[in-house]
Amino acid sequence: MSRRGLVAGNWKMNGLTGAADTLVGGILKGLEQRKGKNICEVLVCPPFTAIQAVGKKIAGSAVKLGGQNMSEHKPGAHTGEITGQMLTDIGCTYVILGHSERRSMYGEDSQLVARKMVAAYRDGLTPIVCIGETLQERESGKTLDVIRDQVSAIFPNLPADEAKRQQLVLAYEPVWAIGTGKTATPEQAQEVHAFIRKMLVDQLGNDTASKVRILYGGSVKPDNAAIIFSKPDVDGGLIGGAALKAEDFLGIIDGFQG
Ligand code: PGA
Repeated sequence: MSRRGLVAGNWKMNGLTGAADTLVGGILKGLEQRKGKNICEVLVCPPFTAIQAVGKKIAGSAVKLGGQNMSEHKPGAHTGEITGQMLTDIGCTYVILGHSERRSMYGEDSQLVARKMVAAYRDGLTPIVCIGETLQERESGKTLDVIRDQVSAIFPNLPADEAKRQQLVLAYEPVWAIGTGKTATPEQAQEVHAFIRKMLVDQLGNDTASKVRILYGGSVKPDNAAIIFSKPDVDGGLIGGAALKAEDFLGIIDGFQG
């Protein structure tokens, strides 16, 4: 596969600095034990308040740092918001955008997510754009329509630069699978990932489409990671609950080993 696997931990609104330090310490220790093995790229996305402390701890390691959200605006009068530049300033290289919790609880729609993606690229971050259908949408047979709408909003806003386009990461996270313990079957995940890949081929051409990574998210655990990651269009995982325990997160990373 020409795409390097990526396992990203989305810590959500969890972890004071002490707990964040312990968690990332456990992850680093586990990675040290796996030294020399061909492991995937590893990313952690702590809450804003812990990013700097975690960044100091992972300095010199292969672990990457990301934010969970950012503003679409340039610096200015936006109380409570964070720019992409503020994230890069403290060592982030990635940012999660349009997570279903942001869409459902904070009214983020695909247009806003697309504007945030523009701002993320501008500020030197690699965007991880989340998409996914609700249970009701799946049960009424609308999954692929929803995915088509959410992914289509991205295309007109992608940078012209080919290298930047190839950096894009998408995360397919069925809303009904997030934090519920219900995982999409590997076949359900592959069906949607293949659909997204086809959209990428049609819009961006084969070369770019073959480089864009599509992660799966939604109740990924150490015991189901390997089978999900074995699907040809699944390039890694966006992990919530299981990213909060070093042992589980490492078990998921191990899902990439042959
Ligand atoms: P989960 O969350 O692994 O707890 O289901 C995934 C996510 O929300 O990114």
